[in-house]
Amino acid sequence: MIEMLLVADSPPPVIDTAWALMLVIRVLHITCAALMLGGLVYLKVVVAPLAEGAEDRDEALFHGRRSAWAKLVMLATTFLLLSGFVNFFYIVTSNEKLPSTYHMLFGIKFLLAMFVFFVAAATAGSSEAAMKMRANLGKWLSMALAATLLIFVIAATMRTFDKIPRVIDEPAAGADVANENS
Ligand code: HEM
Repeated sequence: MIEMLLVADSPPPVIDTAWALMLVIRVLHITCAALMLGGLVYLKVVVAPLAEGAEDRDEALFHGRRSAWAKLVMLATTFLLLSGFVNFFYIVTSNEKLPSTYHMLFGIKFLLAMFVFFVAAATAGSSEAAMKMRANLGKWLSMALAATLLIFVIAATMRTFDKIPRVIDEPAAGADVANENS
């Protein structure tokens, strides 16, 4: 007997408003994640060594352009938080219940992100505390980069969880008529 293997094509995505919105959210999240990682790597590898032993550390680091970096940090932090929460809310509400491991990974990712935002803000801030932290810039940047890499690993792991779209029960056609007649 010849066994038949039926192979069905994967259906294309349903292109509607929700699809477009989630696409924009995802692009925003990935772009801001790339901006944060790239910015911190550049600071650690290129900029921070320039300030070692300098009398005016901030001048050696930023040459008067600190506020430009501060704006980027603020932008990336705001959009990562916004897009992250919208994405999480969408995933949780539009799919069948996800295992607790998924929620645990989300919690760890969120806490690590808070640490990265804190260090990024300190690299750019004008407060006394931020300036003190910049005295150990290399050390803080190493920790923030390790946390960012861990966030990428966790995000990739979260993505491997099966997300089964929630089916909204709609009354079968004619069900109302049948109920009325009974
Ligand atoms: C430094 C901060 C962050 C970085 C570098 C980062 C990075 C990433 C990356 C690379 C992805 C994978 C994107 C994809 O494949 O579509 C992702 C997914 C995600 N991120 Fe973030 N993220 C950060 C902060 C946040 C925050 C603050 C939240 C929540 C408020 C969040 C929530 C999520 C969610 C829900 C996903 C989707 C996971 C899944 O596919 O199941 N992220 N993140």
